[in-house]
Amino acid sequence: MIRFDFKTYVNSFIDQNEYNKLIARKDEVLEKFHNSDMIGWTERIDESIVEDIKNTAYNIKNNFDCLVVIGIGGSFLGSYAFDKMMRRYFNDDKFEVIYAGTTLSSKYLDELTYYLKNKNFCLNVISKSGTTMETNITYKVLKDLLKRKYEKEELKNHIIVTTDKEKGKLREEVNEEGYKSFIIPDNIGGRYSFMTPAHLLPLALNYDLDEIISGYYHGKRFVDLAYEYAVTRNVLFKSGKAIENYSVYEENMSYFSEWLKQLFGETEGKDNKGIFPVSTVGTRDLHSLGQFIQEGNHIIFETFIKVLESNNYIDYNGKDLHTINNIVEDSVMRAHYKGGVPCLEIEIDEVSLENIANLYYFFMLSAAFSGYLFDIEPFNQPGVEVYKQEVRDSLNG
Ligand code: PA5
Repeated sequence: MIRFDFKTYVNSFIDQNEYNKLIARKDEVLEKFHNSDMIGWTERIDESIVEDIKNTAYNIKNNFDCLVVIGIGGSFLGSYAFDKMMRRYFNDDKFEVIYAGTTLSSKYLDELTYYLKNKNFCLNVISKSGTTMETNITYKVLKDLLKRKYEKEELKNHIIVTTDKEKGKLREEVNEEGYKSFIIPDNIGGRYSFMTPAHLLPLALNYDLDEIISGYYHGKRFVDLAYEYAVTRNVLFKSGKAIENYSVYEENMSYFSEWLKQLFGETEGKDNKGIFPVSTVGTRDLHSLGQFIQEGNHIIFETFIKVLESNNYIDYNGKDLHTINNIVEDSVMRAHYKGGVPCLEIEIDEVSLENIANLYYFFMLSAAFSGYLFDIEPFNQPGVEVYKQEVRDSLNG
């Protein structure tokens, strides 16, 4: 169950004329969306690809100690956030998946290499372009470790490449070395690639893929709500609310916020436009950023993602601790609202594969609609290239 409320703690901040104007743009926005050649993520994933992913995951689980996923940005956050939300905090008994490639920290890579030294590990390098520096450096270091352990023929069994179907260095390598590979389709960009092998393979190791896939496409029913969310955010932005805070009250949901920040940040942040996404975790951050949100510069609005039920019962003076956590969340929302902060709310009954996959689709739709409402192209990220060029110039010059 998912419930959306974009009105109760928002309406008094909404310029109704502006809202109606943007609601009236719906057909135009949907037309642009449907005419885009980057919405492959709305089409049903091929059953043969799903089978291949499942078989490969079965093979990894039965032959290796762990999977090391190498990727960054849209080639990382979707499965990472999903996986983090589903795991236990302690004594987690799921198959080990290590995410690497998101840092140039030599401490991290050195310690990871040491950790993997005596492990029988499999690598899944994921990069649509094949040119991403962090991914390539990490891949080289970990492949060298494998090379020190195995001959060419055996090495082949330890590497899986997920990349473009024909372009880029990684695809060339697949063709030369005969590595197992998966394709990120041309019509799906990084942060919209959840329903591709880039994310489904790491998730297939521990979760029921069919449930994730059906949950994801079930999100299609949210088109109207996704548009309403995009419009509400846009109207708030025009009234001076330039920052959106994603607020969660379960620590491991903070990774969902990380995924959201990338999705909206890279989709909207162009041509001097866009809402700057930030995130907080309750109740921890009530004792850090809470003061600012309540009484500071009122450039913020919030989206709360609330989980109604918990399987973990802890009694505190006759009350369930989860209920107390939710009461605090509701109270904070009201306090922030009274202090001048519009609060949008999304409630899910539980953190399930179905609900989270539903929400992934909802947010992806809404981010894309939002791009068109801002009159920018939602599916590119030219700004990311700027730093990459600067790095290349510095390293080569
Ligand atoms: O959303 C995006 O397109 C980006 O965040 C990319 O996913 C990120 O830059 C990594 O790119 P690649 O998959 O080409 O390595």
